[in-house]
Amino acid sequence: MQDIFNLSGKVALVTGAGQGLGSVMAQILAAAGASVVCASRTLKKASEVRDSILQKGGSSISLQVDVGQEQSVANMVRQTLEEYGTIDILINNAGINHRELCVNMTEEQWDEVMRVNLKGIFLCSRAVGPTLLKNRQGKVINITSVIGSQALPTRGPYSSSKAAVIQFTKVLALEWAPYNINVNAIGPGYFKGRMNDSLKDAEAILQRIPLGRMAEPEELAGALIFLSSQASDYVTGQTLFVDGGFLCS
Ligand SMILES: NC(=O)c1ccc[n+]([C@@H]2O[C@H](COP(=O)([O-])OP(=O)(O)OC[C@H]3O[C@@H](n4cnc5c(N)ncnc54)[C@H](OP(=O)(O)O)[C@@H]3O)[C@@H](O)[C@H]2O)c1
Repeated sequence: MQDIFNLSGKVALVTGAGQGLGSVMAQILAAAGASVVCASRTLKKASEVRDSILQKGGSSISLQVDVGQEQSVANMVRQTLEEYGTIDILINNAGINHRELCVNMTEEQWDEVMRVNLKGIFLCSRAVGPTLLKNRQGKVINITSVIGSQALPTRGPYSSSKAAVIQFTKVLALEWAPYNINVNAIGPGYFKGRMNDSLKDAEAILQRIPLGRMAEPEELAGALIFLSSQASDYVTGQTLFVDGGFLCS
């Protein structure tokens, strides 16, 4: 049974791999056997993740990318194909948040969250698409959030962008199903890291998590490997929430 989770010989491209969940997912994919392209806004941080994979005997390169910028995304895909010749798995992870009441939110803050969180996923998927369609196989995993399903004050553009990612995942799943490509999303709940370390409403949120704690980033491994591997070949258009039960409460 273990073979259905094996990613040996696969090439995975992870955006926002410089830190947080992206850096951990890059290392999980490498541990499962994939060659991993660590792409992120700050090259130095992506290179540190690459180095950590190389030190453990994996295969990895690092690239600088702004996922919301068409030419930058095209360069990322071109460099990936030059290095590895193909792409099997795309993890659309890069994401940002601006917490602000809508009445105080600037147009620039709104646009920037939408540009990175939503347009970024469209641009990266579109750029990788020709390779996946030609291969007639591939796995796309979009990182959304419980906040794409559950509204919270001050998360206007974040919540809206993440809800749109859930819907975009379904559209792309329909468009690429005839090519044998699975498009799914992972919806993390509250994970330890930069996004949640300084939450003003942390205590109220903890009370709403049935499992009673924030997650460790490594706890994404099961959902990530499942959706990246042969194990999920008949699963597409789904969002798998890894949230300690948050959305049940
Ligand atoms: N942490 C959670 O509890 C949680 C919960 C639900 C959903 N999520 C989602 O999970 C994903 C990762 O979250 P995280 O907590 O790990 O965030 P994080 O710690 O802030 O890391 C985000 C990463 O994305 C990179 N990035 C930001 N904008 C980018 C851009 N335009 N182009 C390329 N890379 C960019 C950042 O680059 P730099 O290194 O330059 O900063 C950073 O490496 C996000 O989509 C987030 O919405 C997180």
